[in-house]
Amino acid sequence: MIRIVSPCLLAPYLFISALSAKTPVQAKHGMVVAQEPLAADAGLTVLKSGGNAIDAAIAVGFALAVTHPVAGNIGGGGFMLIRLADGRTAFLDFRECAPKKATRDMYIGSDGNPTRESIVGWRSSGVPGTIAGFETARQKYGSKRWANLVAPAIKLAREGFLVSDDFAASLRGPSNPLQLDPESRRIFLRNGRPYDAGETLKQPELASTLERIAANGAKEFYQGETARQLAAAMQANGGLITEADLRDYKTIERNPLNGDYKEFHVITSPPPSAGGVGLLQMMGMLEGTDYDSAGPDSPKAVHYEAEAMRRFYADRSEYLGDPDFYNVPVRQLLDKKYLNWRRGTIDATRATPSDIIGPGLPKSLDARVSWKESEETTHYNVVDEKGNAVAVTYTLNNSYGNGITAPGLGFLLNDEMDDFAAKPGAPNMFGMLGSDANAIEPGKRPLSSMMPTIITKNGRLFMVAGAPGGARITTGVTEVILDVLDFHMNAQDAVDLPRFHEQWKPDVLYLQDGFPKENQEALRKMGYEVKPTNAVARVEAIVVDNGILAGGTESRLHGKVSGY
Ligand code: DON
Repeated sequence: MIRIVSPCLLAPYLFISALSAKTPVQAKHGMVVAQEPLAADAGLTVLKSGGNAIDAAIAVGFALAVTHPVAGNIGGGGFMLIRLADGRTAFLDFRECAPKKATRDMYIGSDGNPTRESIVGWRSSGVPGTIAGFETARQKYGSKRWANLVAPAIKLAREGFLVSDDFAASLRGPSNPLQLDPESRRIFLRNGRPYDAGETLKQPELASTLERIAANGAKEFYQGETARQLAAAMQANGGLITEADLRDYKTIERNPLNGDYKEFHVITSPPPSAGGVGLLQMMGMLEGTDYDSAGPDSPKAVHYEAEAMRRFYADRSEYLGDPDFYNVPVRQLLDKKYLNWRRGTIDATRATPSDIIGPGLPKSLDARVSWKESEETTHYNVVDEKGNAVAVTYTLNNSYGNGITAPGLGFLLNDEMDDFAAKPGAPNMFGMLGSDANAIEPGKRPLSSMMPTIITKNGRLFMVAGAPGGARITTGVTEVILDVLDFHMNAQDAVDLPRFHEQWKPDVLYLQDGFPKENQEALRKMGYEVKPTNAVARVEAIVVDNGILAGGTESRLHGKVSGY
């Protein structure tokens, strides 16, 4: 796995070798990698019973909404990237959209500054897209009956499942938004007695909602009893989503973004994802730099990658948004000449101050909420026996979204409206800056960092990847992909390698705990302000080598690679 270049570069390699104790889980026929084991197994059961990767992905998505409600959802939205074994690809955008009553300044307070209403309370929710997305996926690419794919989730909700250590700990989190909502407090916290690990959590209201969805399809969620109850609750509590918003919601099938990197072909997420553009921009800036000659996490590699990150995030703040509302200049952003010029501004030995990169944006960047690890989204990958591959990232945004459970319906609501730029130059929860491109407009989808990605080599499936982690998704997924493509790491080692993150503003290089100390010092000497962090993207990956599937899920977390 490790290429030794010269003796003086040995130190970082030794560090990586020490870490590389893990062999990825391997399988021959099919594989699911997800952040919660029961949901991963639900997908595997579908694969083993002859379902394809799309069927399994839908079953995993429904199951996560029950067993991993911190992020799994039917009240949020996301992206699904599909590559069929015959090479056809599809990208389903089921991201939430702003309700019809939304306005550009809806989160600006009387003092002219953003309020917390994009994160807290009923007004923070965008129109959910998950059920529409799953239904489109099944109708166009699935093979099993819809009700069969919802069934495992119904069983988990109706009969209950054992609460894991992880889940129990997250229910006790001090800033848990579930405490703020009476229905969530009753269901998840038993009004002050949150579930302990090993206790059984049953969710009868969610089971009933899922049963109606199983019987009536997405129509139930967008035009049926569920829609009526959700819209009535919104109206009673000052929320914006109406029956008309739900009725008019549509999955949008977009062309995936494509690019080439060395001998690889990259299929990734187009706007309103910023992540795919970020991945291809960063690859374009790195190509030809020899950045990988000193090994992964070496000062040289981190320096070049961080400089590419800095330049991408500057562009992100200005140019990226929903392409149906804003003319996103994707082609120009990925133009080789432009990326060559951007690469040329990288000093081989020094960090470039963020202030001299990108257009003149405000200097005061105190985030309204500091970024904590608990913010949640979830990603999973599926590959089936035929070689069909699916990568899904979906989310409620924050952990448990805005913490509100729709009364009587049993599912949590998203606070995705915070992904819009509430005010140009004012950072959102993830410290992201935005402009007109990502301003709020009715029906518009907020810019996302989520970026399910599939990579092929010589026309054959090579890698499937993605992650949660807010603004750190783009850097985390890019790093893991480069660790596999350029540093030849296996899927498990790549997701476990300590990561770093640079997002232009603030001008800080975040290094994950465990990052080699001597390399930190070298980076400091190059002019980086270095800060430790544990908040990095949690990447899930499948790598295909000689027909064998190898799955990686981060060792520090509790996901599962299920294969057969
Ligand atoms: O779409 C986005 O970029 C965010 N809503 C994702 C949030 C997220 O990943 C939080 N999780 N860790």
